[in-house]
Order: sequence, then structure tokens, then C-alpha cells
Amino acid sequence: MTYYVKDLLNALDDITNGRCLKTSADWSSGKNPFVVSKTSNIPGKAITELPGLVWGDPEKEIKKIAVIMTLTESAIELAGGTGVDAIVTHHPVAEATNSGGVLFNVYLNLYNLALFELHEAFHGLHPGIPWLHGHKPYYTNIAVGGIQGCVVNVGEVLPEISNVGDLIDRLNLLINRAEDEKVLEMERQIRNCPELEETSIKVGAKIYLGKRENPVKHIAHIHPHTGFNVKHLEQLLAEHPKIDTILASISRVYPGHELIAKAEELGLNFICGNSHAMEIFENGVPLAQAIQNHLPEAEVVIFRERMASIPLTAIGSPEIRAYGQNIAGTYLKRK
Ligand SMILES: [Fe+2]
Ligand SMILES: [Fe+2]
Repeated sequence: MTYYVKDLLNALDDITNGRCLKTSADWSSGKNPFVVSKTSNIPGKAITELPGLVWGDPEKEIKKIAVIMTLTESAIELAGGTGVDAIVTHHPVAEATNSGGVLFNVYLNLYNLALFELHEAFHGLHPGIPWLHGHKPYYTNIAVGGIQGCVVNVGEVLPEISNVGDLIDRLNLLINRAEDEKVLEMERQIRNCPELEETSIKVGAKIYLGKRENPVKHIAHIHPHTGFNVKHLEQLLAEHPKIDTILASISRVYPGHELIAKAEELGLNFICGNSHAMEIFENGVPLAQAIQNHLPEAEVVIFRERMASIPLTAIGSPEIRAYGQNIAGTYLKRK
């Protein structure tokens, strides 16, 4: 079975029930609501999402497909090195930003790569994220306080969940935290760097308020980066007084934040669930599986990012640290 770039586009269009761009006229018409621009009005930094094929010849043959959350130069190099023909990225891409400062047409053509993006057009297709977090929503608002994208779900816990500890244990099991802990421990030992930190462990599921044995029945599942604030919380609690637990996922707040203070005042549990770094499991794995189901003879891989924080004094080899000192001390200063 031979697959082409156009077959992957059709697959993504089927997966999203028709949300992808099929032709250039499809975006120029302005009729596709998933062609969205994201901007904080910083000059030149806006991005417009084009759900579907961003770069590549529709008639190009493909055998191997990589699914990734955020495209980087490391991903493009890995794709080139492992014989990938097409990359499907969840988060929207911008030239140079997602390609190490290099133009897409040059870099992607060099490695014969097709590039797809599928972000807002993928959101809302499945109920997996509440399920992973142990509840079934009975109320959803995708524009809390009139803010588009300020999504909140209120859900009742699944039968297997009875307390705060169950929620944490469920998440840790699903994302295989124990394995990541071992990898981190080994990396710290091998690199002789106990200060090394890694996202999935450092920003893992965490209880801010409440004990493990505290009962949980009704959860308000919020995402602080969407603009959800204390006023929204008060309104939500007035409408759904049975809520006993606040669950923040994708992003989180830190101790001292007003949302935690409000939850404490009201005697609610406050839990942080999966961070954005876990979206590769939440959305990436189902997307990759759906591509595999639609193109059964293609080889589908996942590119998982692993971000580590290492002190400057412990990075790389002693030789490379000396190199850094020599170069910075000699050249990288005002003459
Ligand atoms: Fe997403
Ligand atoms: Fe995301």
C-alpha cells in the first residue's frame, strides 16, 4: 500500500470530521472557523493556524509519520535522521520559530519532509482529558466570563475515584510517572548532577489543599492560562454548589495565588493535574493512534520532548564549559 501526503491530509480531515483545509481557497474564503490567528499584539509575532497541510507536495509518497506537540529544530533533525516523511504537529507552527531560525521551504525540503498542523481543529473532538483526570463532565463552558477559550468543566468523579489520593494515583499511573522518576534518577547519577530537573516530574500532579483521604465527588476542572479568575470561580460555585475540588491542568498556579486562597477559604480541595508537557499523552497519543487507524500500513512514531534544567556549572563536558568561558570572556563583551 502506497500512501501520499494527500492521504494523510484526508486522514486528518476524517479524524476531525472535516475541519481541515482542503485547498488554498478553503482558507482564503474565510469560511473555516479553525483558521484562527493568535496574537497579544506584539509586532510580527502573531500566528495563524492552518489546520492541515502547511508545507509539502500532496503527491509525495510517505511511509513514516511523526506526531509531535511543538516543532523544534531538534524535531526536524530527528525526523531527517530517522527517515520520517511527514510531521504532524499539534501546536501551530511559525517559520523560523519552529525551525531553528531557518526557513521552512529550505529546511523541510532538505530532508524531504511534509509538515501538518492540527491544533484548535483537534480540540474538543474527544472527552479524554477529563477522563484521564478521573471525572465525567456534566457542565462545560468554553467561554467563561465571555473569554473565548476560557474552558471550564464541572464533572462527577468516575466510580473508581473516591478521594484526592485516587485522583493523583490515577494520573501518575496513566502517565507512567514511576518510569520517568527512574530515568531522572539515572540521568542525575550519570551526569553527576543532583540539581538536574525535568518537567514531567517537577511539574507533576500535586495536592495544594486537602489530604489524600479527603473525599472527592464534584470537580471544577480549570486551566489557569485561559484567564480563569476568582470571580469566575465564585460564579461557578454559586451555580454548582456541590463542587468540592478544584483541579487545575495544562497550566497551574503557585502558592500565594488568589485561586488557592479562595479555595482554602471555602474548604475545597485544590489539586494540580497534568501539565502542558503531558499533552503528548492526552492529545498526542490519541491523534497518533487515529492516524495509524486511518493509514494502517504507515509507520507512526511519537516525538516526545524531554526538557531538563541543568546549572551552567554542570552542563556538558569540562572542555565545553572551558570553551564557554574562553569564548564569552574573550569575545562576548562590549569592545
Ligand atoms: Fe492542545
Ligand atoms: Fe497545548
